[in-house]
Amino acid sequence: MSDESQASSRRKFLMRTGIALNVVAASLIAVPVIGYIAAALRKRSYQAWVSLGPMSSFPAGETRLATYRNPFTVPWDGRTADVACWVRNMGASQMQVFAVNCAHLGCPVRWFPESKLFMCPCHGGVYYEDGSRASGPPPRGLFEYEYEVRGDELWVRGGQMPTLANPV
Ligand code: FES
Repeated sequence: MSDESQASSRRKFLMRTGIALNVVAASLIAVPVIGYIAAALRKRSYQAWVSLGPMSSFPAGETRLATYRNPFTVPWDGRTADVACWVRNMGASQMQVFAVNCAHLGCPVRWFPESKLFMCPCHGGVYYEDGSRASGPPPRGLFEYEYEVRGDELWVRGGQMPTLANPV
């Protein structure tokens, strides 16, 4: 074999090895990116529209406690699959539906109609009636659900519990 053909064959070998290494490197980069995108899509699937009941259960100008059954449950979840939320009817079918859990560490907040405040019993977090933060350790306002008024029923997009990393 001549020197020239040996050099050409070495060049081909190095070229193929380089291409193979690039394919491996691209795969190693692509796997976590695809995993991240798939996880984001899968997260979306843990939410579904559920009814909170007739609109007559939520009189205008009032904030009432409502409960829905988490649509992503297994039979042995029992009562833990019942999810509470606060429903505020501002009139003219304008609603706000708040997650019951505090935006600090998740304790259930209570509504006090006399002061028009939500208060958290754990560390003194306080929220205004529109769910915005009033005082205390919570870093933000209450989490809000998407809602729709369908006919005479109030529906929310429930399922996955909100957290600071994954708001509803
Ligand atoms: S959990 Fe509500 S203030 Fe800490």
